Amino acid sequence: MAEDIVYLNGSFLPINEAYISVMDRGFMFGDGVYELIPVYSGRAFRLQHHLQRLEQSLQAIHIDNPLKHTQWQDILTTLIEYNGGGDQSLYLQITRGVAARREHAFVKEMQPTIFAMSSPLTEPDHANQTGTTAVTVNDIRWQCCNIKAITLLPNILMRQQALEAGASEAILLRDGHATEGSASNIFIVRAGMVLTPPKSNLLLPGITRDLLMELCQANNIPCREADISEADLRNADEIWITSSARDVAAVVKLDDQTIGNGQAGPFWQRICALYAAYKQDFRAGKVS
Ligand code: PDD
Repeated sequence: MAEDIVYLNGSFLPINEAYISVMDRGFMFGDGVYELIPVYSGRAFRLQHHLQRLEQSLQAIHIDNPLKHTQWQDILTTLIEYNGGGDQSLYLQITRGVAARREHAFVKEMQPTIFAMSSPLTEPDHANQTGTTAVTVNDIRWQCCNIKAITLLPNILMRQQALEAGASEAILLRDGHATEGSASNIFIVRAGMVLTPPKSNLLLPGITRDLLMELCQANNIPCREADISEADLRNADEIWITSSARDVAAVVKLDDQTIGNGQAGPFWQRICALYAAYKQDFRAGKVS
């Protein structure tokens, strides 16, 4: 099998030949941001939304975007082609760059490190309506969760806690409210209304989350932003988690409690069909 090709600082090269300095601030401090973008039928899904969020993350950590959106687009298109087109998962990361010494203060003229790679994409099985499981954990993160920072240690620890409890995702509780998952956004359905927490510094503004809200609005499914208390979460008729990696998954068990009737619910079935149709239209080039 051909070796994966990655992009690093202006060059396309085999992954085994891609190296960065140990003095890179991404390695030293986790000083950088990232995006994860699904590719369907050779095209990056919701690319402009991802590039826009990248812009916001970079701004928040005071790094000037080293590339214009059109340059990003060209790099990612080439990377997709090098890796055989079709369906893929793109990961891109920018760090503040390589420093002369390990020092917290950053130097303004630093050259950011730019990296992008492609991994195989496993699409969730939409025919599978058995759903997934989650546990609640304390949100141990900082106050800037809207930044898609590469510093993911709390997320990793919380996800691991979920896995060790036999669940697939951790739903995070902060001050009595559910914020999001360890690597996903959350929705609940209650009394015929789809609810998701409003955007704030306590959660990542998910691209999948926004698309789901758009699809609800376009299809007259009652949907709005609202704080979700722990009691709201536990009493929900349905719970969903959304991300570029998992699309929209129904949570059928939370901690030891069954959600709804223990199967993916009717609202999930509807939104899942709409989501699949949207992706199909994207594959066919009908939506950008
Ligand atoms: N994570 N919230 C967090 C904390 C996330 O890490 C993610 C995605 C999301 C969903 O965002 P989006 O719909 O834009 O993928 C929400 C990616 C998949 C990851 O870290 O691998």
